Amino acid sequence: MKHQNWIKSPVNVEGAALAFKKGFSEARSIAKATLRVSSLGIYRAAINGKKVGSQVLTPGLTSYDHRVQYQTYDVTDMLSKDNVIEISVAPGWAVGYYGLKTSKNLWGDTIEAVAELEIILYDGSTEYIITDESWQVFTTEVTHADIYHGETVDMTAEKKCLGNAVSAKAFPLIPQEGADIIENEILSPEALIITPKGERVIDFGQNMTGYVSLKIKGNRGERISLSFGEVLDKDGNFYNANYRSATEPVIFVLSGETDIFKPAFSFQGFRYVRLDEYPSENVDLGGFRAIVVHSKMERTARFACGNDRINQLYHNIIWGQKGNYLDIPTDCPQRDERLGWTGDAQVFCRTAAINFDVRRFFKKWLGDMRAEQREDGAIAGVCPERFSHGYKTRISAGWGDVATIVPWTLYEIYGDVSFLSDNFEMMKRWVGYIRSTGDEEYLWLTGYHYGDWLAMDAGEDSYVGATSNDLIATAFYAYSTELVVKAGEVLGEDVSEYRELYTNIVKRFREYFMENGMPKDEFPLTEILPEGKKSSADSVRRGVTQTAITLILRFNLCLPEERKALVDKLCELIKEFDGRMATGFLGAPYVLHALSDCGRHDVSYDLFFQNKNPSWLYSVDHGATTVWEHWNGIKDDGSFWSTDMNSFNHYAYGSVAEWMYETICGVKQTEVGYKKIALAPVPDKRLGFAKCAIETVSGRIESHWYYKEDRIAFEFTVPEGVEAEVTLPNGYTERIGGGCYTYAVML
Ligand code: BGC
Repeated sequence: MKHQNWIKSPVNVEGAALAFKKGFSEARSIAKATLRVSSLGIYRAAINGKKVGSQVLTPGLTSYDHRVQYQTYDVTDMLSKDNVIEISVAPGWAVGYYGLKTSKNLWGDTIEAVAELEIILYDGSTEYIITDESWQVFTTEVTHADIYHGETVDMTAEKKCLGNAVSAKAFPLIPQEGADIIENEILSPEALIITPKGERVIDFGQNMTGYVSLKIKGNRGERISLSFGEVLDKDGNFYNANYRSATEPVIFVLSGETDIFKPAFSFQGFRYVRLDEYPSENVDLGGFRAIVVHSKMERTARFACGNDRINQLYHNIIWGQKGNYLDIPTDCPQRDERLGWTGDAQVFCRTAAINFDVRRFFKKWLGDMRAEQREDGAIAGVCPERFSHGYKTRISAGWGDVATIVPWTLYEIYGDVSFLSDNFEMMKRWVGYIRSTGDEEYLWLTGYHYGDWLAMDAGEDSYVGATSNDLIATAFYAYSTELVVKAGEVLGEDVSEYRELYTNIVKRFREYFMENGMPKDEFPLTEILPEGKKSSADSVRRGVTQTAITLILRFNLCLPEERKALVDKLCELIKEFDGRMATGFLGAPYVLHALSDCGRHDVSYDLFFQNKNPSWLYSVDHGATTVWEHWNGIKDDGSFWSTDMNSFNHYAYGSVAEWMYETICGVKQTEVGYKKIALAPVPDKRLGFAKCAIETVSGRIESHWYYKEDRIAFEFTVPEGVEAEVTLPNGYTERIGGGCYTYAVML
């Protein structure tokens, strides 16, 4: 962008959208017109009253003091002789609230805009119209807008001129790097519910992220006020206390003509919409739509089986990703958080990258992470987050490790080395950070971690599971170091130092945390807890837990000959826990893999089919349409687990889809970018059949099995150029190339 002239309003109108306007005439014929725009806040650009481009919530969410994206639009066909460009800007993430209600104005107190319209004329000359003090600023019909706290579109609002724009602080601009944020799907209401309290609630049938649109004609000045909720309470009443402070309504004020409303500067996470105010007794449901908004990502995988509840789980996982991949990977889309929690993102990344093509999406987010990495190499709990102000998240194992895990995972799935070369420094610096903390070079015994977040083995009401955080932290230290070694090897770097570091970490891990091939059980609580925080596990954290053993197995912190006893112990712990898992954010993504890797498909399947709390099917059996944050967000008696940490659209536990593709359907890559694969499905009667199709960078892979009379039939499609090693349940193996294959195995 050649001209980067930032402007703001001469008068600050807090919380509202303001329009920056410029009229101009161009009588000569235009060969090409290109508009480049950005803002501090969220902008919507229009030329001659028509919205420019199909993206929404532009310029997107980045670490604004390091990088603000600008968008480029071809507007040749939108111009005529006399024109008006209008850029409406609302506070958005940068100027409005960002996350918890304590963080406002993180990047600035006032909204700003910057634009250049480049006009290439047929005579070859180029002219520019740029934001400057000749632009005028107006109030708009959007009298209030905040990402988290509602939006008011008042068609009766007076549009006042506030005067000419003034020059404003410049932010570093970059061309848009991320995927477009677009309106992806439109849902119609499924029902209008009159709740026991007598409230009118629209049910869209699906928990989702986006906004409501409404077409309506009424009297001028009549109001519609909408509140949003994900679930109904046990009595069937509207509920959104779990949104915490983010419960303000979306309000539309009618013009008297036919209005088509939708928010443009905020989004909501919801399934249910309560009509707090609506001008008539009869609700015209036909006027309501729910518009699903997320980053543009091509769907690359499908899964189906003969079990409806598992299909629903898979559906919930896909919707969890749709709901939370809105420009950054958020933890949840509804409450006063919606942040790029790094732990959640690393946990779900492999599943996400199989489900959808997320290359652009992550390229941008990793750019922000690099920009924000602290000088000492630390990576925060959320990204974007500025270390220099406001609410600070912890530097935590399993969260900061996003810096190594996400680049490596994306490299593996897409075979794109740039994920490693772009991020190698960040990966090394993260490991360097861990290495430099505390007195023990090869252990990570310091810090304040999120731990096995929301695991249930430290008691129902605990936020953190019982597993020793020191053990978890050192296990992730080893894993991150291993990934630095692997990445360096791909890049042809000298990684001898990291290889040696890795060997030492594993050695110390085994000395400190293990005895006779098993984790030791009790460790003192080493964490220094901030004042007022209490540890969930009181004064000890344990080593003989499902999560500890899972991590030891999955991160290879044991000797090959120790695996059998470890997996036996894991099975025993699962049995003791009534056949359920006791794993949280850090254990749950790996537990089925850990079991299946050791051949205990029987136990992994039993856990997978478990429906008692905690389990994946528990939420399905309680009516979920997305993945829940807490295993039993809604308890068996219908009451809620809590109000403050109870999202019903939290994708992290959806990471089980990775196991569904890899084990149920048996499609696993053995060489990056699926150049070589294993096809080793593990059928189970309870599924009836299972199939998946994955559109990989090496082509489309299909796997399908079903029971037929006294046999199990297998059908595979392998793309040309890909080598697959088939392994059937009867032990038969074969190496195959591109083509379609069928097999049958006697039951
Ligand atoms: C978020 C999580 C996140 C966690 C940190 C929560 O408030 O919603 O998903 O990872 O904090 O433990």
